[in-house]
Amino acid sequence: MAEIHLAGYCDRFSARPGERLDIMVNAEGTDRVELQLVRLIHGDENPEGPGFVEREVDAPVNGTHAVARQHTQLGSFIRVADPEAQLATRDPFTLWAYIWPRTPADGRQGILTRWQSADGAGYALGIGEDGALEFRLGDGAGNTDALSADIPLIARQWYLVAASYDPASGEATLYQEPIENRYNNLLSKIVPLPRSCHAKAQLAVKPAAADADFMWAAAGDREAGRGAFASQLYNGKIDRAGVAGSVLSRDALDRAREAGGAPAPDAVIASWDTTAGYSETGIGDTVVDTGPHGLHGEGVNRPVRGMTGFNWNGHDDCFRYAPDQFGGIEFHEDSLADCGWKPTLSMEVPDVKSGVYAARLRAGDAEEHVVFFLRPKEPSAPIAMLMPTCSYLAYANERIGLDTGMAQVLSSQVTVIHEWDLALRQRPEYGASCYDSHRDGAGVCYSTRLRPILNMRPRHRMAPTVVPWQFPADLSVIYWLQTLGFDYDVITDEDLHQEGLACLEPYNVVINATHAEYYSERMMDATEDYLAAGGRLMYLSGNGYYWVVSFRAGDMDVMEVRRLDLGTRSWNAEPGEHYMVSNGERGGLWRGRGRAPQKLLGTGFTSEGMDESKPYRKMPDAENPAAAWIFDGIDGDIIGDQGLAVGGAAGIEFDRYDLALGTPPHTLILASSEGHSDNFPLVVEDILCNYPGMGGTQDHRIRADMTYFTTPGDGAVWSASSIAWGQALPINACDNSASKVTANVLNAFMKAGPLPGDG
Ligand SMILES: [Fe+2]
Repeated sequence: MAEIHLAGYCDRFSARPGERLDIMVNAEGTDRVELQLVRLIHGDENPEGPGFVEREVDAPVNGTHAVARQHTQLGSFIRVADPEAQLATRDPFTLWAYIWPRTPADGRQGILTRWQSADGAGYALGIGEDGALEFRLGDGAGNTDALSADIPLIARQWYLVAASYDPASGEATLYQEPIENRYNNLLSKIVPLPRSCHAKAQLAVKPAAADADFMWAAAGDREAGRGAFASQLYNGKIDRAGVAGSVLSRDALDRAREAGGAPAPDAVIASWDTTAGYSETGIGDTVVDTGPHGLHGEGVNRPVRGMTGFNWNGHDDCFRYAPDQFGGIEFHEDSLADCGWKPTLSMEVPDVKSGVYAARLRAGDAEEHVVFFLRPKEPSAPIAMLMPTCSYLAYANERIGLDTGMAQVLSSQVTVIHEWDLALRQRPEYGASCYDSHRDGAGVCYSTRLRPILNMRPRHRMAPTVVPWQFPADLSVIYWLQTLGFDYDVITDEDLHQEGLACLEPYNVVINATHAEYYSERMMDATEDYLAAGGRLMYLSGNGYYWVVSFRAGDMDVMEVRRLDLGTRSWNAEPGEHYMVSNGERGGLWRGRGRAPQKLLGTGFTSEGMDESKPYRKMPDAENPAAAWIFDGIDGDIIGDQGLAVGGAAGIEFDRYDLALGTPPHTLILASSEGHSDNFPLVVEDILCNYPGMGGTQDHRIRADMTYFTTPGDGAVWSASSIAWGQALPINACDNSASKVTANVLNAFMKAGPLPGDG
């Protein structure tokens, strides 16, 4: 029997009782699954803790369901609907485009095509198997002919390229001229490489009409059992492009290139202005055709808009400031914005207690948890547990740690490869995380929830570390809330971004989970306003409120991140590409926008390391009457000397108090960790000039600070400031010092009215 694979996702992260939730499942090796709704309580199988804990929930949806294999279109491209066949091949025509290829040596790639690969029919301007510009024709009867440039394209060099064809004479021409621009080509013009090509030939084949759309960055394809899809995916940028209804001369193309724009033929069939349709709040997927037929293109799998174009002059780094210079649209063969699977079932969300739930699917030995977060029908609990779905998206299907060895260096641990690591590598169509780079080398700036996220599952551990990361680690906080009997509601970043302050207002206290790293401006604003109005926050997190993220208005499916020249980062945005096109905001760190996490949390990221976590030691402020109550029942000075995350409560990633970065001046440092190994370096954003002694045991900044401060109207923020804190809570059935301190804070914060120690 074939090995069974199950993977699924919901149409959104968060739902309320009574709402419908669609579940999409891909099944290989089976056509039936057993579905059981479960409430997830704990996800870490570390034998020091309670292990994996789930509870089955009665629901009409439980039972056997039919499942099927689902196909995913990977890769970004643009599809041009052409109902009147204006882009057919009856008359002479010229295809032209400004291009910046990233991987010209990586096989056949479409640039402007109306080509059906399954039949070998149509025409295509693209890159050939030899890395050179190519114009192909196919008659759909097995005959193809092509005209190729005699020199390969250079990666990361702008060109104006064109191909013309006259059906009457059968003559084709090819045009390839580099764009001399001092700024955004890989090489300057002092490098004497052959780059131009002007070729002409009689082609023997008459092109047949292709059973495919006109496309940018891809070509049509078809397979039995799958249907139509796009292949020959292109890696790189395309700026303005068009189709002329005549054979354009070399002179005409030279003039266009020298003028920096579109050729001006007698007959325009299509002329796509990639800089049209920009607004102050971003750029959508439509590529505007200014020609007579309005043949607008639609991006599939979110091509990256607003990138530097062939004419960028290096003066501005945002598409809003000089839109004409940001006409680049970047394509990647492995982009994903939506798996697009058919719903396997549509479930009415049962009226059960708010919490973390999953549709557990089983077939043979295979098991899958399709996780979702159940909000209450109406907020009723005093406590909101905020599940960091933006951070889950950023990490979704992360591969870099294992693939590059980066996490092994950080963790100083032997690599353990799990079955989910293998499953992920066998299925590139599940997409990458915002930590990874595309196969062409560009950083992944988009992450979608419309796909299986294999690391947003109980039991998952992030290779090669031995600890759960993000979602499965956050379940340790859920277990703690359950075990101590707290009445809490679950909300998500998705809800907070959409609803703002109204999402937090009903609650006396909001809890951040272990790694609330990715925050949108609306989430930051709502949190700040909540605290200013007397709200209370427990930050059981490390390296939180760090990266800026954005979404398109009214669209929570795809999140955008731009990693810039500041912060611990796995890639860096290209020069000039520092603003997010989802909403027009600057990307990068919140610290880079004058909003370091210290301002809301008291602490901000200072170090990470994974060899050993340490406890906290009480600091003199722990005796301050305003906060001494937090340590009621604690004997001695040490807190959190055990934990599921390598042995203590201060570890993995943690944060420090820093007045210079905006820690409120009345903040108390209640406790700090110390003695972290040299595997804990100082974060790069604090390094202006490197010198020996930065980081590890020699650097006083390598510590987690537990802090406390009050805000107007009986508000307060208590920060544990460490990822490992939440994973210290379940130790000894939650009977431990970290648990006791957290419970003291939560018991006080969840009650309205003055806080203990107040006045
Ligand atoms: Fe992180």
